[in-house]
Amino acid sequence: MLASALTGKKILLGVCGSIAAYKACDIVRNLRKLGAEVTVVVTSGGARFVSPLTFAALSAAKVYGGMFDEQDAHTIPHINLARDHDMILVAPATAQTIARFAVGMADDLLSAVVLAADCPVVVCPAMNSKMFTHPATQVNLTKIAAFGYHVVQPDSGLMACKEEGPGRLPEWSVILSAVEKVFTPQDLAGKRLLITAGPTEEPLDPVRYLSNRSSGKMGYALARAAMLRGGEVVLVSGPCNLEPPANVELIQVRTAQEMYGAVLSHFDDMDIVVKCAAVSDFRPARCAPEKLKKEGADVRLELAANRDILRALGERKKSQILVGFAAESENHLEEGKRKLAAKNLDMIVVNDIQGETTGFQSDTNKVTLVTRGGEIKELELLTKEQTAMAIFDEVVALVGGGM
Ligand code: PMT
Repeated sequence: MLASALTGKKILLGVCGSIAAYKACDIVRNLRKLGAEVTVVVTSGGARFVSPLTFAALSAAKVYGGMFDEQDAHTIPHINLARDHDMILVAPATAQTIARFAVGMADDLLSAVVLAADCPVVVCPAMNSKMFTHPATQVNLTKIAAFGYHVVQPDSGLMACKEEGPGRLPEWSVILSAVEKVFTPQDLAGKRLLITAGPTEEPLDPVRYLSNRSSGKMGYALARAAMLRGGEVVLVSGPCNLEPPANVELIQVRTAQEMYGAVLSHFDDMDIVVKCAAVSDFRPARCAPEKLKKEGADVRLELAANRDILRALGERKKSQILVGFAAESENHLEEGKRKLAAKNLDMIVVNDIQGETTGFQSDTNKVTLVTRGGEIKELELLTKEQTAMAIFDEVVALVGGGM
C-alpha cells in the first residue's frame, strides 16, 4: 500500500442513527484502505441501523456503544477514546447528536468522547432537509463550527424520506478531502491559485480533432493538493474523464483559445499559477462546418499556431508566482531552463515523459524542479498526488521568499 496522509492515523468514527449509517461501513473500509486505524463508536440510534458486529468485522477492532458497559468500566472509555485518537469523524451526524455537541451534553458515549477530546473533530451532518435547514440545527452547526469543529456541508438531492433538498451524506471523496485537510498544513491559506490541466482539443470538423495523451491526472492532483493546503483554487481543465476535486472551482474548456481566454481573465486575481495542461501548439487552420468526406478530400492539413498562454502570463505577470511544466523526452534540463527563461517563470517542472510510469496518463511521475534562482531538485518516482505535494513544498518556499 502506498503511503497516504492517513497512514498510521488513529481515527474514531462516530456513527449516529440516520439511514445514512449504512454508508459508514464504506467509510470504515476506505479509511482502513488508506492505512488508518479505525475505532467505531456507535450511538444507540446508529446501532438500530447497522449492527455493531458489522463495524467490528470491518474495522477489525472493538466497537464501543454504551457509556456504562460494565466490562469496560475500568478503562474509563470516554476519556481514553478521546485521548487515544488523532481525529474524531462523526458520519453520519444526526440533528440530535449535533444538538448534544452544541450544548456540551455528555449523556451518551459519543457526545462524552467529543466533549473530552482535544483532537480535531469533523462532523458530517445527514438528515431530512427540513431538519437540516431548521434554525435550531443551523444555530447548532454555527456553534460547533465556532468550537473549531470542521463541518462538512451535506449534499442536496432526493432523500430516503422522498423529500429533496440539503441533508444527504456527501460522497466519500468529499469526506476524505475534509479529513485529509485536517492533517495537512494550511500553508496556502489565503492564497488564490489557478491550475490548468488536461489536453486541449482542436476541432477539424464536427467529429474530428487534434489533441494529445494528457489525462488530466497531474493537473487534478495539483488542484486537490492546493485545496488541501488551504488554497482557493480555480481549475481550468481541458476535456478529461476525471472526477473534479471537492471544493475547487472547475472551468471546463475545450480548445487552446478557450483556455487562453479562461486563464487570462482570471490571472490578475491570482497569487499562484501552475500551468500543467498540455496545450496544443497548433490547430487546424479551418474547422469545417460539416463532417469532411473522404471522397475528393484534400489530404493536406493546414495548421495555425495557437498563442502560448504561459508566455502571455509571463509577459503580464506582476507579483504572481508562475510555474510551468515542460514535457520532455530528451535534453530535459536544458529545455526546461530555456522555457523557464523564455516564459519568465519562477519555477519549471521538467517532466520526463519517457516510460510508462512517468508523464502522460500514468498514476506516477518523475520530475525535476528548476527555480529561477537556478536551484535544481530531482524528485524520485512518486504518485502524482505526492508529486503535487512536493511541487507545492517548493512553491511555498518561493512564496516565503517574497512574491
Ligand atoms: O495529464 P497527465 O496524463 O497526468 O500528464 C501530465 C503531463 C505530462 C501533461 C504534465 O505533467 C506536463 O508535463 N504538462 C506540460 C505539457 C506541455 O505541454 O509541455 P510543453 O513543454 O509543450 O509546454 C511548456 C509549458 O507551456 C507548459 O506549462 C504548457 O502548459 C505551456 N503552454 C504550451 C503551449 C501553449 N500554447 N500554451 C502554454 O501555456
